[in-house]
Amino acid sequence: MTLFLENTWTPHPLPAGTWTVTLMNLSEEALTDFTLSLTTITRIMPEHRLEGARLLRRVANFHEFAPPEGLVLAPGACWRFSAEGLNRSPFHRNDAAKTACVTLKSGQHLPVQLSDLVQGHAVPVLPPPRLPEGRLTLPFASIPWPNRIEAEAGPAPVVIHAAEGTSRADLRLMLSIDALHARLFPAARKLFQISPAPGSLALTFADDAGIPAEGYRLDFTPERITLTASAEAGRRYGLTTLAQMLHGAFVDPQMRFPATGQIVDSPRYDWRGNHLDCSRHFWTADQVMRVIDILGWYKMNVFHWHLTDDEGWRAEIRAYPELTSVGATRGYDCPGMLPQLGDGPEPQGGFYTQDQMRAVVAHAGALGIEVMPEIETPGHAACVLAALPFLVDPDETPDSYHPVQGYPNNSWNPGLPETFEVLETIIAELVEIFPSRHFHIGGDEVAKNAWLESPRARILMQREGLSGTFELQSWFARRVKQILDRHGKVLVGWNELSHGGGVDPENTLLMAWERPEVGIELARTGYDVVMTPGQAYYMDMVQGPDWLENGAGWAGPVPPAQTYGYEAEGEFPEELQHRMRGIQSCIWCEHFTTVDWFNDLVFPRLPAVAEAAWTLKANKDWLRFAAQVRLHPKL
Ligand code: ACM
Repeated sequence: MTLFLENTWTPHPLPAGTWTVTLMNLSEEALTDFTLSLTTITRIMPEHRLEGARLLRRVANFHEFAPPEGLVLAPGACWRFSAEGLNRSPFHRNDAAKTACVTLKSGQHLPVQLSDLVQGHAVPVLPPPRLPEGRLTLPFASIPWPNRIEAEAGPAPVVIHAAEGTSRADLRLMLSIDALHARLFPAARKLFQISPAPGSLALTFADDAGIPAEGYRLDFTPERITLTASAEAGRRYGLTTLAQMLHGAFVDPQMRFPATGQIVDSPRYDWRGNHLDCSRHFWTADQVMRVIDILGWYKMNVFHWHLTDDEGWRAEIRAYPELTSVGATRGYDCPGMLPQLGDGPEPQGGFYTQDQMRAVVAHAGALGIEVMPEIETPGHAACVLAALPFLVDPDETPDSYHPVQGYPNNSWNPGLPETFEVLETIIAELVEIFPSRHFHIGGDEVAKNAWLESPRARILMQREGLSGTFELQSWFARRVKQILDRHGKVLVGWNELSHGGGVDPENTLLMAWERPEVGIELARTGYDVVMTPGQAYYMDMVQGPDWLENGAGWAGPVPPAQTYGYEAEGEFPEELQHRMRGIQSCIWCEHFTTVDWFNDLVFPRLPAVAEAAWTLKANKDWLRFAAQVRLHPKL
């Protein structure tokens, strides 16, 4: 059956306007006895006015509507309804129904094709280009740009070979960068080999204990390249710079290779992270490894793996198989979770087995990248409570609190001892898989009235003298910190973990995401901070103000130039700068339904963050970056 759905939005009445939905039957059969389900990030709130339909259910962004009693949608006919009382005005074309599905009385689900959200009065214009043409300062390809480079350009060698006497460890490292390059650019010419060949240039490795562990020096002469470092990390980054420059010279006619001269380089920040949300959209283990390859190419060193959120649990936990048998799949007929965020009629989901997670850790480790797991607590846990219902206070008033994404009662309950037993077990399994010193426990976006209608949470509040949700949250986080302390881990969380009394700043690191100023407040309180402000480093934000842009709007638009130019430590008072450990991009995936969307939103902003993490402010140059970044690999 060909069914088509159109979304339009008009800004009246204030504050959030009217959303109109039209379902068209373009088949040759009448449609009767059906409901219509939509997944839409713009939601209909409990206080709403709906004309032409009845809202049967809404869970987060899943909505199910019934047509007027007895409606028969004849071939060629339309059913139109409109809603006021939206959670907010949509910002962009992807902000209303992402998927639609008609369900027949028989239980059969029929896919519905649909339009973008059309804004009533907007004149569609094509967005301006995101990157200027740019201009090179030197004809060498390298992102992040090295902190000191003085070199004369010459023709590229045919290949780089290892000088005689190179250790097996250095040969292995050199080949691992060659393999990384070949994975990212399978059609490109190879860069390194062991033995000399016609037109090849020798590479010699040397040690200098005076160079920082992640730093390196490259000396170029017509006879040889010398790579000097004090540690494997620096040697790896030096090899990566060589690989990028040689690849650039092979594929981009503007690029050459250093004939003589020197590069002296080391990173600006220790923490050069990137986060990937695998809950809202499930990325396969192979795709995760490719993201890690891209981080390796850009000399990033932390992969923050967002393994759980309301929309799905992705890590196999042997003690609680329900977390993945129930909590990893969304679908119309699934026991735990309804479709969300662009899911179609077929069930959507997946999870990583423990072996797959180990393989990801090993893959990242070989590129010098630490994998930090994140288990969202206490909020963003709808999938946990669907999978393990014994973690719900049976006397809690249902639907008594909703965080910003609209899930009802979605938080681990600190009033239940089982909460900590389960977390203890989960953490014990995960620390066996993730050797990272850092363990991220979430902490963001707990509804401000969470647990207040839970008798068990109220007993806890009375016993411990706690007042309100955020003191409960702080008590919860301190309990989890005790578990992590026993495993020798640093607790990492989002900035809201400082609320309600926070946690001990010792061995704690918080990520400032809501606004840049939050990072300074955290540092002043004594926390180590990684800066991840949505206004610069959230890769899901739209890249321009136009209605036709893809992406999220709450902190946007975030054009690539803004991501590149943003100076995270800009406002930090000097005496607090030592608390700023580094910066991180975050790839949130509520809006990502395909690899194309990923590539469209993540590039070129991810390399921009990589350069901001490595290259000193004085050496950043947007036009030089813009001219180089077109060579980036894609997912
Ligand atoms: C967040 O974006 N809620 C950390």
